[in-house]
Amino acid sequence: MSPKERVVSGVRPTGPLHLGHYHGILTNWLKLQADYDCFFFVADWHGLTTEYEKPDVIADSTHEIVADWLAAGIDPKKSTIFRQSDIKEHAELYLLLGMLTPLGWLERVPSYKELQQTLTGRELSTHGFLGYPLLQTADVVLYDAHRVPVGNDQVPHIELSREIVRRFNHIYRKATGGKDLLTEPQPLMTESPKLLGPDRQKMSKSYNNCLYLSDPPDTIRKKVMSAVTDPARKRREDPGDPDVCLIYDYHKLHSDTATCQRVEKECRTAKIGCVEDKKMIAETLVEFLKPLQEKRQGYLNDPDQLEQILAAGAEKARGIARQTITRIRKAMKVH
Ligand code: TRP
Repeated sequence: MSPKERVVSGVRPTGPLHLGHYHGILTNWLKLQADYDCFFFVADWHGLTTEYEKPDVIADSTHEIVADWLAAGIDPKKSTIFRQSDIKEHAELYLLLGMLTPLGWLERVPSYKELQQTLTGRELSTHGFLGYPLLQTADVVLYDAHRVPVGNDQVPHIELSREIVRRFNHIYRKATGGKDLLTEPQPLMTESPKLLGPDRQKMSKSYNNCLYLSDPPDTIRKKVMSAVTDPARKRREDPGDPDVCLIYDYHKLHSDTATCQRVEKECRTAKIGCVEDKKMIAETLVEFLKPLQEKRQGYLNDPDQLEQILAAGAEKARGIARQTITRIRKAMKVH
């Protein structure tokens, strides 16, 4: 059997995980961990690129995020789970790759200007923020990642990584007798189902519209009941259109087929009202989150265990990182 391809992915610890993360990231990771050699890490240095003035949030959310991963079924026996800042080789590789990365390549990455405009109220004309996708390149190259599972917004980052790897391989080919030293990562486009917040905007911390995996039942109920359903359905007796209703999207992810079919029909015929429908999905979500929250709390009550899992992951990651960085140091003639 050929060795499994390696997958590397990270999450910035800038707050607790929400239902959008669950469906967009965690369900994909769960599938991947069966077929790939997976490395999942908490990208705390990446968190600092925007939160450098309030680093508490990074420390606080690291354990929460890892607890969520474990509760969702990411298994440290199958996947390598670690914290970026435990592996200093990420920083060394970031520095070394920086030597050959043209400034224009970084300035051209779309998220750079976009986020500078959206994330107002902080100084983001920093070296660290510009270097964000370069650090991300180091994260994946260090482990010879074949595949990087990402959403659409991250594809330009992987493209940049590929360009940097090609440039590196080209420059140092002589030093290796013609061999490519680094592996070009490929994006692994993951399907993420549409999941809007109760206000019909993309679920996101910056819109303050998240259903957090850690929300207690009454908070979930309150948030769901505040949801804007089909805006054209003004009165109870008006028929609705489930296709434009975010609650129906939740049903598709969380209710059984029979319920989905019934809700679809009864919404179109105004047999079921939005309030009743929201009450039903709220209870479904509460039930879904219950076992996850129990497990998550179990981990959070035992921070030593979390640190042990992170330490074991770091140990494994470090072994590979050291081999890669040794190759790179040799090619670049440094110690
Ligand atoms: N930029 C990614 C995000 O915002 C997080 C990240 C950091 C990452 N390093 C990575 C993702 C390496 C994949 C691989 O979601």
